[in-house]
Amino acid sequence: MAVPDLVFVTGASRGLGLAIAEAVPFPARVVDVSRTGPPEDSGIDHLPADLSDPASWRKVAHGMQEITDDADPQRLILIHAAGTLSPMGFAGEVDLDAYTHNVLLNSAAGQVLGHAFLAVAAPRPGERVMVMISSGAASSVYPGWTAYGAGKAALDQWVRNAGEEQRRRGAVVVAAIAPGVIDTSMQEEIRSTPAEDFPDVDRFRRLHEEGDLIAPEVAARRFWEALEDGLTPGSVIDLRHR
Ligand SMILES: NC(=O)c1ccc[n+]([C@@H]2O[C@H](COP(=O)([O-])OP(=O)(O)OC[C@H]3O[C@@H](n4cnc5c(N)ncnc54)[C@H](OP(=O)(O)O)[C@@H]3O)[C@@H](O)[C@H]2O)c1
Repeated sequence: MAVPDLVFVTGASRGLGLAIAEAVPFPARVVDVSRTGPPEDSGIDHLPADLSDPASWRKVAHGMQEITDDADPQRLILIHAAGTLSPMGFAGEVDLDAYTHNVLLNSAAGQVLGHAFLAVAAPRPGERVMVMISSGAASSVYPGWTAYGAGKAALDQWVRNAGEEQRRRGAVVVAAIAPGVIDTSMQEEIRSTPAEDFPDVDRFRRLHEEGDLIAPEVAARRFWEALEDGLTPGSVIDLRHR
């Protein structure tokens, strides 16, 4: 039997993206876009891509178009959760190639995939939603996270503008959602970073010790509740303040 809805989730191989992909609250074909892919028994499809490589963006754009044409969904959603903190350390001190990959993944990939998704989704009928996963790091100062913070800030501003464009066209609802501090491998990486490279590391070690990290499943449930309640076009939401 045909499944009427289609959800793309970048970064659904683990962590928050996987939890969101596993918690889709309606029958849907779910497609992960990542390097390693989702767990085999997850029922989630895989569109392989290294999103820090600009050559992958066109392939993902074609893939999204083909899968959407094939599925002809009533509801079409893209959630862009792929992201990286790596390399943590101060600008001017970390490896140039690793820094370049961070900038390409966190700043550029979301904008280009967002553009590609809007081209696929805007001409279609039905409910169409696109969400960028944001972070408090878009506006707070964290030495050691220059490219990460700049990437999240860039995507937030992209969402404000694209959200307004799409509102004028009556097409895709575009928003950004910051999830809070989630218990994923990204947090493990933070806790294992020396204070010299990430001076706020103790704050994150304390959050972990005191059990204050949010389980990915809880964040995913809150995420879908926010979507089901309806997103204001162009809005940047923090799930901790809902
Ligand atoms: N954890 C937190 O406390 C927290 C807080 C605020 C915001 N966020 C945001 O939430 C999102 C998910 O974070 P997380 O904590 O779940 O991180 P995570 O556990 O490290 O997972 C990161 C995901 O991004 C994918 N990814 C990384 N590099 C990629 C690349 N080059 N190409 C394609 N996919 C790539 C990974 O897939 P592969 O490795 O298989 O490619 C993985 O699925 C990120 O956007 C992050 O900034 C997290």
